Amino acid sequence: MSTHTTRFKAVIFDLDGVITDTARYHYLAWKRLADGIDTPFDEAFNEELKGIHRMGSLELILARAPRAFDADEKLALADAKNRHYQELVATMTPKDLLPGALEALEQVRAAGLRIGLASVSKNAFTVLDRLGIRDRFDDVVDAATVRRGKPDPEIFLTAAAHLGVAPADCLGVEDAAAGVASIKDAGMFAVGVGDPQVLARADRIIRSMEEFDLFAY
Ligand code: BG6
Ligand code: MG
Repeated sequence: MSTHTTRFKAVIFDLDGVITDTARYHYLAWKRLADGIDTPFDEAFNEELKGIHRMGSLELILARAPRAFDADEKLALADAKNRHYQELVATMTPKDLLPGALEALEQVRAAGLRIGLASVSKNAFTVLDRLGIRDRFDDVVDAATVRRGKPDPEIFLTAAAHLGVAPADCLGVEDAAAGVASIKDAGMFAVGVGDPQVLARADRIIRSMEEFDLFAY
């Protein structure tokens, strides 16, 4: 039962797959790249890439490729993937907010909590602008400043520090196993959005952001 009180002082959201379905665009862009180099790629393998930064994801894909790629080739592949991804992002509008995402941001704001964004995507600011929600966050961690991506806790700890809130008083929201690990290792409460088997380390699982209820955690 909701009591309309919360012990948290901040909520830190992931972006891709939580606020909007860009996880799908990342999948489509990696899929085309993998097909182009005769490398197996499916939804199950893609699950392992969620939350992983661009070059790390590419390395995981290339580990299954039929040949080796040198550093210049890798950069060219990553650039090609990113250009395709950016073409997909360029079609986005505020209608691409996932159901329940805006309501969740509004609920957290109305409760007087701080709001952060912890995405390792270097396209996060562009995506927020396409969705028209950049100003709804008190802090957006710039992925370019994060040295260790998810599952390392650095990005969630950075968001908490920027917000001036102790990690133990933060709730993190993630759709990826690597992201849930990042939240938990930061010492925060984790809400996982998606498959309970994939997100087993989360403190709570919801199937979609429509189920997000700050007062239930
Ligand atoms: C994460 C996605 O949010 O950002 C990953 O879950 C993606 O799939 C990563 O690889 C990096 O994104 P970008 O936009 O910097 O290539
Ligand atoms: Mg995500």
